[in-house]
Amino acid sequence: MELMRLLIMVLSIFYSAKTSNGDGFLVYDYYKETCPLAEDIVRHNVEVAAYKDPRLAASLLRLHFHDCFVMGCDASVLLDSVEGMTSEKQAGPNLNSLRGFEVIDKIKYLLEEECPLTVSCADILAMVARDAVVSRGGPTWEVLLGRKDSLKSSFNGANQFIPAPNSSLESLIDSFKAKGLDMEDLVALSGSHTIGRARCASFRQRIYEAKPEYHHGSDRYRRYTTFRRILRSICPVTGRDHKDHEGVIKEQVWAYASNQKLFFASFAKSMIKMGNINVLTGNEGEIRRNCRFVNT
Ligand code: HEM
Repeated sequence: MELMRLLIMVLSIFYSAKTSNGDGFLVYDYYKETCPLAEDIVRHNVEVAAYKDPRLAASLLRLHFHDCFVMGCDASVLLDSVEGMTSEKQAGPNLNSLRGFEVIDKIKYLLEEECPLTVSCADILAMVARDAVVSRGGPTWEVLLGRKDSLKSSFNGANQFIPAPNSSLESLIDSFKAKGLDMEDLVALSGSHTIGRARCASFRQRIYEAKPEYHHGSDRYRRYTTFRRILRSICPVTGRDHKDHEGVIKEQVWAYASNQKLFFASFAKSMIKMGNINVLTGNEGEIRRNCRFVNT
């Protein structure tokens, strides 16, 4: 078992060394000496937040994804707008939709008390995502750490790189490929939608316009039309755009439903891979004092 763990560690470190951007690379136990309580503080606060509001777990997981797909996992998503720089929070895929920022603020505040200017906001997002998944009964994994925070945000990048709910399968595959993620990652990570919610605006088009491709009369067709009827009753043709309700679960996720062990293993592997996208390390970027603003 120990040998297996060691092997996984070595392989992961090798992998992260190849994928990281800077002079350093991501490692386990990065804060072991400098902030030994970091992981405990993060875990405890995610548990408390998700206990009070279970949906927050989903929202926190999504924050890490929306961070990593824009410039890389550098906490750019957390920056507020300042003169001359519009935040990613204002971009189409995030506005009125992305949430959980207060949880990150609280964790960052506590970490600054415990060990000032040590734990990056980008690493907090990666740890929080893992702990959020665990809090909803999902798999766990060891988070590689050592990311630095960006000095800017990218409003345009958020509009460009975060996939839209009506994207074709081809464009989803392309957008993941551009980030070094393959089809297996796309399917596994889409499984994130087994938790959380979506607004009517995110899938109305699909439930009113789409024609099912399934064979009429088949079980699959019946399930599809029933599900669609339920969603239509919750989301009328117009209105309720900001009212939340259960989101459409991606069909690929259902493929994993019969083998939870496989889904969990694939999901954890893909999350580690996603967490490595264009990370800043070494002297790149900075460790923000407040995740909403760059240090002056
Ligand atoms: C494959 C491309 C993806 C598309 C097109 C997509 C699209 C969406 C949309 C439209 C919503 C609902 C947003 C709203 O209505 O407010 C959503 C929610 C969510 N997404 Fe994705 N997503 C994708 C990939 C991912 C990935 C890779 C993750 C995590 C690793 C993720 C995690 C989540 C979670 C957890 C929620 C629920 C958030 C909440 O309840 O606050 N998504 N996604």
